[in-house]
Amino acid sequence: MTRRIRKAVFPVAGLGTRFLPATKSVPKEMMPIIDRPLIQYAVDEAIEAGCDTLIFVTNRYKHAVADYFDKAYELEQKLEHAGKTAQLELVRYVLPSGVRAVFVTQAEALGLGHAVLCAKPVVGDEPFAVLLPDDLVWNQGPGALRQMADTAEVTGASVIAVEDVPKAKTGSYGIVATEDFSNRQGRIRAIVEKPDPVKAPSNLAVVGRYVLDPEIFALLENVEPGSGGEIQLTDAIAALLEKKPVLAYRFEGKRFDCGTHIGLIEATIEFALSHENLSGAAREIMQKALAR
Ligand code: G1P
Repeated sequence: MTRRIRKAVFPVAGLGTRFLPATKSVPKEMMPIIDRPLIQYAVDEAIEAGCDTLIFVTNRYKHAVADYFDKAYELEQKLEHAGKTAQLELVRYVLPSGVRAVFVTQAEALGLGHAVLCAKPVVGDEPFAVLLPDDLVWNQGPGALRQMADTAEVTGASVIAVEDVPKAKTGSYGIVATEDFSNRQGRIRAIVEKPDPVKAPSNLAVVGRYVLDPEIFALLENVEPGSGGEIQLTDAIAALLEKKPVLAYRFEGKRFDCGTHIGLIEATIEFALSHENLSGAAREIMQKALAR
């Protein structure tokens, strides 16, 4: 597996029940941090890593994601006539030219592994990325996926993003056991989905960024329902590492778990505080609120 990744899979068919009632009509991937939806941050990261084919695994209710990436002719015309070039750029920038979006439907919500398997006909037989948009990963330098794609290209291995979490939180994530790390990488020896914290093999948690060997598809086809009764990507990765090298990668950057309320709040605060136009006012509001 030494080819550069070109295709990125975005599983966006989840129900987003944690954010009800908002997610009754707004997919969680469309929740904004300031003025950009979560999905845009993940898409930008994939494009920066070199991907030109973005595969959205969606469900029949989630038109908002497809609408967002569709060309908005009327809006663009209006902005153009009004001379609002900055806004026009923002609208066009959603999907830069040369990048294509492909939509695949996941007919039944059978789990993350099943969602990734739905992308098989579009991915074919080449290494590819998976990005979970509710993990927002931000870095001043190269994005996390770019770092991982470089590592995959050099090593020929599959690469999975990880970070340390408190032991008590291991039950919320995929957890890996690895060989010693050097150069941010450690070969994965075992991976388990959402273990009981008492049984967790470490406190190194999987973050929603993966560069995967296409052999994962054959393994996903044979995986039995696991944690939560769902077809888990983690279980197919556990089978993959019996056959091929899979690296855990401690990326450079900060991850916001925007699949939780507090993660979404944290990301909003951090982005507001570093926003070129909003930081001053945001800081003032926060200082006043904290002084009460
Ligand atoms: C998924 C994966 C899990 C991973 C997590 C990262 O879980 O199954 O291994 O640690 O994403 O966000 P989910 O958050 O979909 O329950």
